[in-house]
Amino acid sequence: MIKTRERIIQISEPVTGKEELDALSEPLETGWLTQGPKVKEFENKFARKHQSKYAFASTSCTTSLHLALSSIGLAPGDEVIVPAFTWVSTANVVVYCGAKPVFVDVKQDTYNLDTEKLKRNISNKTKAIIPVHLFGLCSDIDEIRSILPRNVSIIEDAACAVGAKYKKKMAGSLGEFGAFSFHSRKIITTGEGGMLTTNNQTLASKAEILRNHGASVSEENRHKGPRPYLLPDFEVLGFNYRMTDLQGAVGIAQLSKLDHFLNQRKKWAAWYLNAISDIPWVNLPFIPDHCEHSWQAFVVVINEEKSPLSRNEIMEKLLSAGISTRPGTHAVSNLGFYKKNYGTKKSDFPVSSMLEKCSLALPLHNKMEEQDFKYISEILHSI
Ligand SMILES: Cc1ncc(COP(=O)(O)O)c(C=O)c1O
Repeated sequence: MIKTRERIIQISEPVTGKEELDALSEPLETGWLTQGPKVKEFENKFARKHQSKYAFASTSCTTSLHLALSSIGLAPGDEVIVPAFTWVSTANVVVYCGAKPVFVDVKQDTYNLDTEKLKRNISNKTKAIIPVHLFGLCSDIDEIRSILPRNVSIIEDAACAVGAKYKKKMAGSLGEFGAFSFHSRKIITTGEGGMLTTNNQTLASKAEILRNHGASVSEENRHKGPRPYLLPDFEVLGFNYRMTDLQGAVGIAQLSKLDHFLNQRKKWAAWYLNAISDIPWVNLPFIPDHCEHSWQAFVVVINEEKSPLSRNEIMEKLLSAGISTRPGTHAVSNLGFYKKNYGTKKSDFPVSSMLEKCSLALPLHNKMEEQDFKYISEILHSI
């Protein structure tokens, strides 16, 4: 019997409390609201956690990715390899630089870039690749590195992968750059927000300058310098992608909860993997042994041949039982802009197209309780 529920189980809910509220009082009281000491502290702590020498907070993962590509000097005529199954901005940032995104299909079990299909998409114009750690599972970076020519940069799209590990190394420390998201559907949040990590000093200094309009001297150093009232020179075309200190303060509080959030997510993901493994029309996500998933989302695939209903019908049914779900993500190559401007075809990316149609994100977040998971499992079994 399907129980009725008093509240909808949301697909995702941020966990903020007294710590975040208290953290906001200092910038509000001192009046330092723009990028300042709180952002610096957030960056230092984030860098340490993600085994990176440098971290630069920004307005989003999208702008972090754009900073990364601008820092490596991506220009018109260049190509960048991106997985076809990802959020649209992984490809958009390539277009922002006037370069061409080259889509590669993904694997059906990990939802990440298919390295078997990578080779044939590399050309002498390939300047970078953006492997995505989708839903918190790291892409196979060693395999990707072994296939790529040495001059091709790896920019990790780690939007979903705060705290994730690959061969005991942290996401964000695996490529030339890593870009993270603090959008409120992510594991830790600053409302909107992002972080760019790197271990390369030259790239770090480029990214830092580009984040701040291209100013040759950072705001902080100008204020510490002998003539703080004078404006610096701007020698490159930059952007304003700075994070506010209000967000930085919230980010510090969220980061202190990260390990707890990750442990809870891991526990409940393992629970799902066991509890719904007997449903014949649900294909579960595969986690290679060398990866520690951060479980930003728990995404299954509806096996159309075995399922009594389509993915969308299942979503409808779950919603009517008070359970909110989402498609995993989209096949960017199937979106209007890319079809129109790059001539991409559904049939060229069969796995991404199937996942776009059949993937299903079930609720998994840090406000859920045991009874929520049990209820979802019960409803799934009843279909
Ligand atoms: C894989 C991936 N890349 C990039 C982004 C963009 O992140 P943001 O919203 O912080 O720009 C997202 C957001 O959902 C994402 O899932």
